[in-house]
Amino acid sequence: MGMKFQIRNACWLGDDAWFHHGTISIANGRIMKLESDFASDTPSAGEFIVPGLIDAHVHLREPGQPYKEGIANGTLAALKGGVTTVLNMPNNVPPTASLARLEAKRALFAQKSRVNYGLFLQARIGGPRAPESAAGVKIYMAKSSALAAVRDPAALAQIFRLQNRVVVHAEDEREFSTGWKKSFHRVEKTGEIFHSVEKSFPQCGKLPHHLRRPRAAVVAALQSIATAWRRVPPKERPRLVIAHCSTVEEIDWVRKMKRQGHDVWAETCPHYFLFTEQDDRARGPALQVNPPLRTEEDRAAVFAAVQDGGIDFISTDHAPHLPKEKAADSPPSGIAGLEWFGPVLLTLTMRGEISWQRYLKLAGQKAAQCYGIEGRGLVREGAWADLAIVANKPPAAAQEKIVTRAAVHPYPQFEFAVGIRATLVNGRLAWTDGRVRPGVHGREVYG
Ligand code: DOR
Ligand code: ZN
Repeated sequence: MGMKFQIRNACWLGDDAWFHHGTISIANGRIMKLESDFASDTPSAGEFIVPGLIDAHVHLREPGQPYKEGIANGTLAALKGGVTTVLNMPNNVPPTASLARLEAKRALFAQKSRVNYGLFLQARIGGPRAPESAAGVKIYMAKSSALAAVRDPAALAQIFRLQNRVVVHAEDEREFSTGWKKSFHRVEKTGEIFHSVEKSFPQCGKLPHHLRRPRAAVVAALQSIATAWRRVPPKERPRLVIAHCSTVEEIDWVRKMKRQGHDVWAETCPHYFLFTEQDDRARGPALQVNPPLRTEEDRAAVFAAVQDGGIDFISTDHAPHLPKEKAADSPPSGIAGLEWFGPVLLTLTMRGEISWQRYLKLAGQKAAQCYGIEGRGLVREGAWADLAIVANKPPAAAQEKIVTRAAVHPYPQFEFAVGIRATLVNGRLAWTDGRVRPGVHGREVYG
């Protein structure tokens, strides 16, 4: 890593949200010097450079389910998407809920990750405090691994007291449609209400996903979170992140908490502002995700918050499942969008739907701030040289080689304005023109 080199005639998106034209000098994996000859408010017509994106919510399924997607392939998808840092979720098999398992997972990432990384610990009652070297803890209020869900205010409060950074999946599983499940069991036995279900949802033959996990589950979760929050003395409260916000209710709640000065942050994912439950109905298992896609009103509220700062940062919630698993009768939930992350956000910004200032925050700066990641997320002197080189010509969808083992393009209709031509991780070219450079490893972003 003692290499020194320069990128001349470069155009880069600076930390002031202007496009600078000049020379980037890189040494020892970091940006040593930025020499800007002039600046403009739009990128140059050819290629331009943006900070490598930070995806603060991915599910790379190692250890436990590498057949779905392991660290090496998942981080290859990251490189294709211009992503240079991922924070990995703990709902592995077995769940990452002890310090020993966290250490074991860290060893795997050290060996296999092509991008920089941080890891979450799964919260459980009586579980350990996340060490400084972890991104934080994840609370699942609906079961998502072998561990029971954590949903009661008393349990939440206990975790809030102990931890510094908490990210919550805010769907209370007790509101899931067990009534319907019971009905279905009865249907199987007697054939009784089947007819009416069929009539209401002919193409499914069963309740649509967003009704199986209704909005009431989100509302109940927010209520319990608020109750727990009030029970914990202000000084003992953690930083709280509401993961993958998908409803008006979450957006409004986070806005209110922010106004009142609480250390509460909001994350969303592209699918929550690109799609609605109609798309889920139309495209079936490909867009079945938890929390589910919601109404047009929810989608619009999420996107308004993306634009105005109600949402702090965007993540993919990259959750790969194999095509044959998605084709099963009860398919697993999850969308695998990591390799299109940069192109989606950049295209929306090129179209003027997001300002470049907001782009910087949404694509990395805020996630870095939220999770204590230093020296990443912006192109500035002294920062790590995590860079994505953006080309105005996106790959044609038909010719595109999909990297993720989920093997499905979540955004087939989206008109990409740009693609990622190359990605540098800690000053080393890791991926270029569709090919990975072997031997480039990321490093842990903590410690
Ligand atoms: O859709 C989802 N898939 N939501 C989750 O919370 C978990 C994830 C997964 O791990 O597959
Ligand atoms: Zn997730």
